[in-house]
Amino acid sequence: MEYKTAKRMDSLPFSEIRAVMEKATKMQQAGENVIHLEIGRPDFDTPEKIKEAAYESLKAGHVFYTSNYGTPALRKEIAEWENAHHGTDYAAEEVLVTVGVGEATYASMAAFLEDGDEVLVPNPVWLNYIHVPSSLGAVPVTYSLKEENDYQIDFEELESKLSDKTKMIVIVNPSNPTGGVFSRETLEKLSEIAIKNDLLVVADEIYSQLVYDGTEHVSIASLPGMKERTITLGGFSKAYSMTGWRLGYMCAPKEVIQACVRVHQYTITCASSFVQDAAITALRDCADDVEAMRQEYQRRKDYMVKALNDIDGISCNNPHGAFYIFVNIKSFGMSSFEMAEYLLEHAKVALVPGAAFGSEGEGYLRISYACSYEDLQEAAARIKKAVEDLKK
Ligand SMILES: Cc1ncc(COP(=O)(O)O)c(C=O)c1O
Repeated sequence: MEYKTAKRMDSLPFSEIRAVMEKATKMQQAGENVIHLEIGRPDFDTPEKIKEAAYESLKAGHVFYTSNYGTPALRKEIAEWENAHHGTDYAAEEVLVTVGVGEATYASMAAFLEDGDEVLVPNPVWLNYIHVPSSLGAVPVTYSLKEENDYQIDFEELESKLSDKTKMIVIVNPSNPTGGVFSRETLEKLSEIAIKNDLLVVADEIYSQLVYDGTEHVSIASLPGMKERTITLGGFSKAYSMTGWRLGYMCAPKEVIQACVRVHQYTITCASSFVQDAAITALRDCADDVEAMRQEYQRRKDYMVKALNDIDGISCNNPHGAFYIFVNIKSFGMSSFEMAEYLLEHAKVALVPGAAFGSEGEGYLRISYACSYEDLQEAAARIKKAVEDLKK
């Protein structure tokens, strides 16, 4: 049979980083010792208390559908957590529990974007923010985040991208892939623009707890006039090391939640019952576990930023959030895909070509330090040697 996929599939390509990943996996299967710095997931186990809470929930027979919105107890806990940590004032009714931030992204865009609507998205960015709006018939219009601006927004450029079709602005704060954290000043300026142009803001704050060097994480929804136009996305995957549990949420005014829940209702129904119960324990009892992981990320980042900057020809800024370093490799005149392939073959280190995250990522590689300190030490030594060989 000839399978004629829907036209919208044209805007859903396979991930460009697959080639590198597949090669890395094949090398590993062939017995090569590949160090994985390409993976955007924590290397820690989920804290034991969270697992215990899931077992208890299952034992108590919480095995059925919950409300589409999520359990009342978890919605309340999320609202309280957001308010306490981000200075917002959400009520439980302003929370929708989702299957990860991935689903929250889809629901918020499917609920609001029409054919031809434009969405301002960062470049570089986690690619869902390009492919989800395009698959919905909307148009992602990118604004640049540049190393020389410490990955803050260039407002002159952003304003030049506004049109009468612009409906939404996406921010990812802290950022995947740059590790950049928007300053309060950046967010205040962005708020002015959003208010003046009557735009919705989708604020992906999945990495909000992973900030370093005393950096303040500011939630745009806490700024004056912003709650009504912001959809804040948060989740459990990163800070609590729960990527496989698939749980996230959005916080937004009730009318926004009412729109998004209809997308969610006809696709997901609800997040898993016992995972929702376990998430209450995560929010209530696991601040120490999160802090311990954060401190370990800080230690790894400090090591890796220095080690990379000590290598001739490559450099990086000091990223203040998430668990990524965006490494500048421009001096070699190779594309980021070529360099990633070279390092995979010659150093047996897998990392992601920056161009996979958008055109502004060309000339960079994304390194994830969500792996052991020892792996980072070994990777830095191997990268140094491979890069020196290249210069010969
Ligand atoms: C910025 C960003 N948002 C969302 C996600 C996905 O989150 P979740 O596991 O909650 O779907 C990721 C995962 O890499 C991410 O980097």
